Amino acid sequence: ALQQSFTPRAQKESHRSLNCVQPQASYKVAVLGAGGGIGQPLALLIKMSPLVSALHLYDIANVKGVAADLSHCNTPSQVLDFTGASELANCLKDVNVVVIPAGVPRKPGMTRDDLFNINANIVKTLVEAVADNCPDAFIHIISNPVNSTVPIAAEVLKQKGVYDPKKLFGVTTLDVVRANTFVAQKKDLRLIDVDVPVVGGHAGITILPLLSKTKPSTSFTDEEVQELTVRIQNAGTEVVEAKAGAGSATLSMAYAAARFVESSLRALDGDSDVYECAFVQSDLTELPFFASRIKLGRNGVEALIPSDLQGLTEYEQQALEALKPELKSSIEKGIGFVQKQP
Ligand code: NAI
Repeated sequence: ALQQSFTPRAQKESHRSLNCVQPQASYKVAVLGAGGGIGQPLALLIKMSPLVSALHLYDIANVKGVAADLSHCNTPSQVLDFTGASELANCLKDVNVVVIPAGVPRKPGMTRDDLFNINANIVKTLVEAVADNCPDAFIHIISNPVNSTVPIAAEVLKQKGVYDPKKLFGVTTLDVVRANTFVAQKKDLRLIDVDVPVVGGHAGITILPLLSKTKPSTSFTDEEVQELTVRIQNAGTEVVEAKAGAGSATLSMAYAAARFVESSLRALDGDSDVYECAFVQSDLTELPFFASRIKLGRNGVEALIPSDLQGLTEYEQQALEALKPELKSSIEKGIGFVQKQP
């Protein structure tokens, strides 16, 4: 699936008949926070997509050089740079997908929730501009704490009267990417074959890999389940500690976010077989937002996939119940942040 996502289709098809249909580079993508650790490699990966006609890069600083640099790659999209609040509206005009990795990352000893005070305001301001300028766009929220920033975005969009729950996504793809990698390593499987759904949220114990639903069907001992689950939940912290103060995951995050962008573009382009995990408005549990596998279509979330939550092991069922209070309180914190503002 990854190869399908990332090998430019135009390249693959050039080996086939000249008559075959080439993908149209026709979608506009904006990255808000494009000068950052995630933003730069993410912009590079999106620049490789044959489905993108325009790549708009926005940041409060340092984005001009990133855009000039990327614009020399001979792939279809035109790269434009936008610096500072006065250029944000223009950046967002007619955009189909907005990706938001703006905000501060963790340092050692910090939880994602410690970022709330700074990132909540950044996400609120940026989503207000999205509501005003491209209310029909798919919105991909990367800025942490995702468990709160997605509810913040939903409240902002509601206040603006343009909330479409099918088009707002918290990006949890990195949890799936990590789960797939660690499971393939542990069980000596071919990486390309492995798919582990990860549900719940995107912080600590709210990240719940459903190892019993691993494809291809794989059995794990209790010890393996415990070890893999904890490693997947703490993988972000593993990177934060290794970077020792220089930030959190950026390259693997960019890879994961680019996969989610490419999946969204394929769905917009009419591909009817696109599935990803994401943190979205949900009725799969009693919580208003929940990460699960979703089917993506032209209008965003076409369906939630409830079957992943059926027939859970006892370990998974207990972990699911255990994560709900924390996830609930992070969601409420996000909603409260917007509702309390004058
Ligand atoms: P970074 O500090 O390297 O880059 C952030 C960028 O945002 C900077 O270029 C900064 O100028 C920009 N920025 C700050 N305020 C802004 C505003 N008001 N408007 C536009 N841009 C603004 O941080 P990094 O490493 O790129 O991380 C970004 C965010 O992504 C963090 O909140 C981090 O916690 C989160 N993250 C999320 C993950 C996920 O799985 N969802 C994984 C890894 C990080």
